Amino acid sequence: MELKDYTEANRRSWNQVASRHHDGKQQRKQQFRNKGYSVLDDTVTEKLKLYHIEGKHVAQLCCNDGMETLSLKNLGAATCTGFDISDNAVEEAIKLAELAKIDCQFVRSDVYDIPEEYNGKFDLIYISAGSLIWFPDLALLFKTVNRLLKEGGVVLIYDIHPVLFMLDEKDKDQPLRLRYSYFIDEPRIYNEGLDYVNKQEYESEPYYVFDPTLSQILTAILKSGLHLDLFEEYDHDISALYEHLKQQEVKVPHSYILAARHSKVFG
Ligand SMILES: C[S@@+](CC[C@H](N)C(=O)[O-])C[C@H]1O[C@@H](n2cnc3c(N)ncnc32)[C@H](O)[C@@H]1O
Repeated sequence: MELKDYTEANRRSWNQVASRHHDGKQQRKQQFRNKGYSVLDDTVTEKLKLYHIEGKHVAQLCCNDGMETLSLKNLGAATCTGFDISDNAVEEAIKLAELAKIDCQFVRSDVYDIPEEYNGKFDLIYISAGSLIWFPDLALLFKTVNRLLKEGGVVLIYDIHPVLFMLDEKDKDQPLRLRYSYFIDEPRIYNEGLDYVNKQEYESEPYYVFDPTLSQILTAILKSGLHLDLFEEYDHDISALYEHLKQQEVKVPHSYILAARHSKVFG
C-alpha cells in the first residue's frame, strides 16, 4: 500500500468514530464555557510554560476535536491552529470553538499535505497522546514539522510510551504480561473501531497503526534537522486505557515528553 492509502483509510475510520466520541465528551466540552478551562494536565502545562507558550503562534497536529487546541489558547497562546485529517473531528472542533467563544483556527488536512502557506509560521507545535502511531513515514512527518516551525521554534510531543503498546490493555488479570512485539515490520491492522472514550467496540473501516519504537522516533527527529532539547519519561497514563496499571508495584514507562528545536543551520 502507498502512504496515501494508509492515511485515507485512517481518515475514514476517524470519521466514523467522531460522533461517538462527541457523545462521550459532552460534559467535558461544556466546561469550555468556563473562562480559561484546560484539559491539559499539570505535567504538560508546566512544560508548555517552560517553552513560553504565552503570546506564541501555536499549532497542534492531529488535534482531533480541538479540546487540547482550545486549552493551548486558554494558556495564553497568541494564535492556535489545529490540523487533523478527519473531516468530522474538525467539524466538531469548529463547533466547540464557537460554543466556547475561543478564537482558534481548524484546518482539515493530512499532516503530510499541510499547505505551504503555513511554512515557518509557528513558534510551538504540539503533538499529543496517540498521534505518532498514525504516520507511515516518520521522517516525512518531522520534515513537515521542521518546515512549519519558525527558526528557533519548538515541537513538543506528549505521547504514549511505545513500550506500553506491548501490553494488552484489556488483560486485567495479568496486566503486565507482554503480548505484542516492540519491533514490528508491518503496520498493525484493526477494524474494531476507535472508541477509546466510551470503550465500545464496533465493526469499523480498517485502520493502520505503525507503532514506532523510541529510537525510530528519535532518529526521525534528529535526521530532520531538529535538535533534541528535552526528553522525560513518566509512569502516569495519558491514554485512559492503562489506568489500572497504577496499582502495580512494577512501574513501566507510560508516557513521555520530548521537545526538539528548529535550527537554521540544519533546518
Ligand atoms: C488519538 S487522536 C489524537 C487525540 C488528541 N491527543 C486529543 O486528545 O485530542 C489521533 C488523531 O490523529 C488524526 N490523524 C491520524 N492520521 C493523521 C494524518 N495523517 N494527518 C492528520 N491527522 C491525522 C486522527 O484523525 C485523530 O484525530
